Amino acid sequence: MVAAKVDLYNSSYGKYDLPVYREIRIETYGEDFGQTSWVTTEESYEIPTLLGLTTTSHVFEIGCGSGRYALFLAETIGCSIAGIDVNKEGIRNAVELVRVSAGVRATFQEADASQPLHFKDQAFDAVYSNDVMCHIPGRLAVLREMFRVLKPGGRMLFSDALVLDGPVSDQEVSTRSLIGSYIFIPRGQNEQLIKQSGFHLLESRDTTQSAARISKRRHDARARRKSDLIAVEGETNFLGLQAFLQCVYTLSTERRLRRFLYVASKT
Ligand SMILES: C[S@@+](CC[C@H](N)C(=O)[O-])C[C@H]1O[C@@H](n2cnc3c(N)ncnc32)[C@H](O)[C@@H]1O
Repeated sequence: MVAAKVDLYNSSYGKYDLPVYREIRIETYGEDFGQTSWVTTEESYEIPTLLGLTTTSHVFEIGCGSGRYALFLAETIGCSIAGIDVNKEGIRNAVELVRVSAGVRATFQEADASQPLHFKDQAFDAVYSNDVMCHIPGRLAVLREMFRVLKPGGRMLFSDALVLDGPVSDQEVSTRSLIGSYIFIPRGQNEQLIKQSGFHLLESRDTTQSAARISKRRHDARARRKSDLIAVEGETNFLGLQAFLQCVYTLSTERRLRRFLYVASKT
């Protein structure tokens, strides 16, 4: 029996340090960046290059989740970074990670990216968002805000795993949406909105295979720890998340729902 909605983000961020969650992240991604997305570790390592980050870059992440990936960029590139997320537990975790890390230039704030951003015009050299845009209503307005806060010549990158490219049933839509609210978008529309908001589109890369691979690994890593997870999440939540992950796997292997990575510049 699958619940109407199940929780992923509150428990992933609120119980970030739980060994069972850490083991699942390592088994799923290979490297633990506190991820809840479909970003492979290869993509995590490529993002700084795609954004052209250097030690002097001031970077903005929308939907930073646990904050771990932003901190990784601040630590390894030496850039400064600001992250926002609507989830309290994510921001609490991110702030705590900063507190225990020496000398990283990172700040995190709870904020809803569907609202105007509280940053000045041209505040950042780069803006990115990993698998978050699908949750935020008003995509054109969000992209216009990303454009506004970016300096001329700066890069913007986001991924979207909710690009429709085939028939999806009402049951599949509801299972795929079990963890929250989503906007499914027809193929080609993100490219149009990126251009409409003023950006120059540099790349639109089909990364559907990443969603298939990560969902399967996460599903199987969780299945192997079923009793531990039921003790933490409860059976209804466990089964709901497994159904969600299975649905992502099916829709992406059949390529009815695709994931794209978009890179654009403010010329
Ligand atoms: C799939 S997770 C990705 C998190 C992180 N980027 C990662 O790669 O693991 C989506 C994130 O978007 C955040 N989110 C959803 N709606 C949002 C909004 N309106 N404003 C800011 N963040 C939002 C969620 O809280 C969640 O942390």
